[in-house]
Amino acid sequence: MSNSDRKATDLPDFYNDLEKAFTTAWGLLVSAAKDRSSPMHTPVLATSGPDGAAEARTVVLRHVCEEQNSIRFHTDRRSSKVVQLNHDPRCSVLAYDPEARMQLRLRGSASLHHDDDIANAAWSGSQASSLACYAQPVAAATILTDPQDAAIESAPDLEFARGNFCAVVIALDRIEWVYLHHAGHRRALWHRDGQDWAGAWLAP
Ligand SMILES: Cc1cc2nc3c(=O)[nH]c(=O)nc-3n(C[C@H](O)[C@H](O)[C@H](O)COP(=O)(O)O)c2cc1C
Repeated sequence: MSNSDRKATDLPDFYNDLEKAFTTAWGLLVSAAKDRSSPMHTPVLATSGPDGAAEARTVVLRHVCEEQNSIRFHTDRRSSKVVQLNHDPRCSVLAYDPEARMQLRLRGSASLHHDDDIANAAWSGSQASSLACYAQPVAAATILTDPQDAAIESAPDLEFARGNFCAVVIALDRIEWVYLHHAGHRRALWHRDGQDWAGAWLAP
């Protein structure tokens, strides 16, 4: 086999196939939600801050639903991100998997759920250890005299925690994918076009 043949067969099947690239991007997200060791399990969520500057923070990707084009994470109702998303639900999510050599930049609109079926299902489907953090006695970003003032009791009040719990569902309307390869990088963008996704290759 010549070097150029070997190079060609080394290329993944999505390399020149936009539809396969789309499936690959979703597959990466779906498995990242289930796999705690995936670097995409903890993407960065960016919202619009009160002064218009972007506010970014790490969150845990809890669920991905390709059928509904949505992703979900959990947070505390008292947090700044909830205030920001209430003000402007548009947001971005950034994830990078170095092993897959893929970056995903997602955009969408967030809906906040704290006392509906979505919140109840998200709460019941979560491990007690991750729910305990919603029992923190003071809201995130409260200025403390002593860091212990925010300590959560060893037997947390789960009713209080439930009141602070919020499931955030982001309905995606844009997915940008970058794949790094020495033979030439690949970049593609899909956006919601009515009920469908419309995609195109972009110059990387
Ligand atoms: C690895 C990691 C995972 C995190 N996951 C979450 C999460 O799922 N939800 C959340 O609200 N905060 C999570 N945080 C904390 C946020 O990054 C952030 O510090 C906190 O939510 C306050 O953000 P805000 O003031 O912008 O609302 C995580 C932090 C790290 C380092």
